[in-house]
Amino acid sequence: MVASRIGVLGRGLLPTGEPVLRGDDLGVLRGDGLFETMHLRDGRPWLRREHLARLRAGAAAVELTVPADTALVELLDEVAAGWPAEVEGALRLVCTRGPEGGGPPTVYATLAAVPAAALRARRDGVGVATLSLGVPAEARPELDWLPVGIKSTSYGASSAARRWAARTGVDDVLWVSSDGYVLEGPTANVVWLAGGTLCTVPAGRTGILPGTTVAWLLDQAAGVGWDAAERMVSPGELRGADGVWLTSSVRGLVAVHTLDGGSLRHSPRTHELQELLGFPRP
Ligand SMILES: Cc1ncc(COP(=O)(O)O)c(C=O)c1O
Repeated sequence: MVASRIGVLGRGLLPTGEPVLRGDDLGVLRGDGLFETMHLRDGRPWLRREHLARLRAGAAAVELTVPADTALVELLDEVAAGWPAEVEGALRLVCTRGPEGGGPPTVYATLAAVPAAALRARRDGVGVATLSLGVPAEARPELDWLPVGIKSTSYGASSAARRWAARTGVDDVLWVSSDGYVLEGPTANVVWLAGGTLCTVPAGRTGILPGTTVAWLLDQAAGVGWDAAERMVSPGELRGADGVWLTSSVRGLVAVHTLDGGSLRHSPRTHELQELLGFPRP
């Protein structure tokens, strides 16, 4: 097992047990911060440019000052240097609001081997249950005060959903709006195959996180003979799809084999899609 690492902007690599945040950092007090998690493959963060662009868009939306990309890239490089090429890594970049009362953001990066559970999900697929989010699909982007589609460190709802999943005996959940549309998982986008079209949920219309993995996958769909589209979808439509998957940076592409206890159609193309995304065959 490769030891995990942590590096802090302005302080360099630190022993992983070393304190990094002040007790009054708003990242801790309010969950006020942004982060990105990248898949480290062959020792390099995949889709780094896209992750940094999403971080910057999020920073503009929440009025958070983040250092220039050059400084962030330097930090990521420092943390990833010498990581064994054959070990998949989860490289997380965190920017908090910093100390209460004003102060610079705390910026740090962590790196750890991709957890065994993620590799298992990629190999075996997951059983998923729908879980009501309690708001209409298009309600959140209509609120002009609410930043949406940002990767905030405030993951209270996601953690609650995952605890609910564990209590309920499913691997993961798909949030469903009060008007009956599937939105996303607590840490993943949903992708499905309808006829010859690879689909995902429109982030702009619903306020879900615009996933870097799903964007890349849909960009490549033509190469594997499929069209690509953003569509609204109900759980019933997912039940009739030719394949349903979750996508995220670290798990990659994971087949959903069960939805609310009912088996979904098995797609023989899961491995091909994982390979297309560059994830090692599980
Ligand atoms: C809520 C949510 N949706 C989607 C995703 C997938 O995004 P990405 O593919 O950029 O990792 C994540 C990733 O953690 C997420 O937290």
